[in-house]
Amino acid sequence: MCGLEYRGYDSCGFAIKDNSKIGLKKTKGKINLLKTTTRPGAYFTLGIAHTRWATHGVPSFINAHPHHDCKKKIFVVHNGIIENYRELKAYLKKKHHRFCSDTDTEVIPHLIEEFSKRHSFFEAFLKTVNMLKGSFAISAITSSEDALFFARKDSPLIMGVAKEGFILASDIPAITPFTKNIVHIKDGWVGRISRDKFEMFNFKGKKVRAAAEKTDISLGAATKQHYAHFMLKEIYEQPHVCARLYSFYVHNTRIEFKDLNMDIKFLKSLKRIFIFACGTAYHAGFVAKYFLEKICDIEVEIDVSSEARYRRFKLGPDDLVLAISQSGETADTIAALREAKKRKAKIVGVCNVLGSTITTESDGLIYTLAGPEIGVASTKAYTAQVFSLLLFSLHLAYLRKSISTAFFKQCLSELRSVSKHHKTILKNAASIKKIAKRFSRFGCFLFLGRGINYPSALEGALKLKEISYIPAEGYPAGEMKHGPIALIDEYRAVVCIAPRGELYSKIVSNIQEIKARKAKVLAIVEEKDREAQSLADAAIHIPSTKYSQISPLLVALPLQLFAYFVAKNLGCEIDQPRNLAKSVTVE
Ligand code: M6R
Repeated sequence: MCGLEYRGYDSCGFAIKDNSKIGLKKTKGKINLLKTTTRPGAYFTLGIAHTRWATHGVPSFINAHPHHDCKKKIFVVHNGIIENYRELKAYLKKKHHRFCSDTDTEVIPHLIEEFSKRHSFFEAFLKTVNMLKGSFAISAITSSEDALFFARKDSPLIMGVAKEGFILASDIPAITPFTKNIVHIKDGWVGRISRDKFEMFNFKGKKVRAAAEKTDISLGAATKQHYAHFMLKEIYEQPHVCARLYSFYVHNTRIEFKDLNMDIKFLKSLKRIFIFACGTAYHAGFVAKYFLEKICDIEVEIDVSSEARYRRFKLGPDDLVLAISQSGETADTIAALREAKKRKAKIVGVCNVLGSTITTESDGLIYTLAGPEIGVASTKAYTAQVFSLLLFSLHLAYLRKSISTAFFKQCLSELRSVSKHHKTILKNAASIKKIAKRFSRFGCFLFLGRGINYPSALEGALKLKEISYIPAEGYPAGEMKHGPIALIDEYRAVVCIAPRGELYSKIVSNIQEIKARKAKVLAIVEEKDREAQSLADAAIHIPSTKYSQISPLLVALPLQLFAYFVAKNLGCEIDQPRNLAKSVTVE
């Protein structure tokens, strides 16, 4: 249960079976509160547990999972959303079922109870699952059987097979301390686990074959080690992640994407790419859009998945869709991917979790190899996405002959140096910490960038707002004069991303306009910069690169560290910011 807390943490609970009795404990808040009310050393062999990210009903004791039936004999935990719960609740109320929570989940144990009157428990469970609309990963226990029942539709669920028994979870890192043998439970499967065996079926009740595979995720990768927070540890992992990606995809001077699974002819003649992603992954895709357009001579359309899935793009078999997601389980991106699939577009998942829904539903894969990311604020997964997508763009440009060999080689050598540059930036963390202290008093931030660093500005603002709760907006610097400049006065802080490149002089002018209106400017500049730095109130340096288009990979680190130290100064809960969850598996 602890291993899953990063997925939701506003309330939690568990139900454990001891002979035929089931005991229930739950609380509003985090797991450590639950620990204080639990008898240490309690022994049991069957149980279910849940950490919640509220969808229906406020975070409270009553709404915390597990939920139960009228007689408190059937207990259920659920991730996802039951869309038809109102109709089901009305039906059950007519049958005199009594409800105590505001959740959609509570209909599940009551439906099972209702159907158990005339059917075996498993039949009742299956019947219930078939009545549910929406998304769900469910597990249930009952006082009448020594077994655990589960079902999955559009919400992640995996099973670990350990020496001591079986464990169900939403995510692999939660169970790697116990086992590395994982069964990837497929959408539309239900199952039953008893003491020494498991069985799985489709929703019609027909048996399906499920086998365990070994995962390569190590326990070390999912612990904080000596770092104060997962976020900080993951920021410091970035030089290794980029070096790993480089040696995985680049062989001498050849880029190879073994799992891309796309016909070379298709890639050569490709006219349009669509990118779908959410949050930080969207910003990584936005950086890639600039790069792809610049070097591949290709039209690139990007949208956040929650919008993309409802738009009527002209999308067909000649188009390529890049579905970017750290977790591979983001409901909006999965929905956009499925929509694109219906229209026969080719899909490449850009993903960090092998075996996740996006990796299994895509035609091809760009594996981002960042290792488990636990901090809710995405850091190393972002740089891994940008790095892999820049490599992919170079690969495509090379195939399409839209760049020279000399340029290709130069870019590769720049990308090889990213890991070294990251180390240089991280050595400077103490000075970023000092700057963050000075800027922590501001109640509102603007992040400005131009060209390929406009997405960096969006990402910098997102990092700051999600962990420090300070309102922060990312803007293309050239757009300031069309409205946002009205915000500027001596009480505002503006972070200007100003590495050298074709738009450098433009952003210097933008900094001048801001200074003329007395806001405090923090500039992210290259080592040898003079102009932008001389105008700013503070500056953070990044190493110089020959090709400015790779600067988003460098700029990301100071922005992440800045957000981290500001949030730390303000005493915020960095790894688990309020109202958020790591995997957003509901729409
Ligand atoms: O797992 P995904 O990459 O699909 O997640 C997408 C977003 O929910 C995620 O990037 C979110 O914006 C992060 N918390 C940002 O730090």
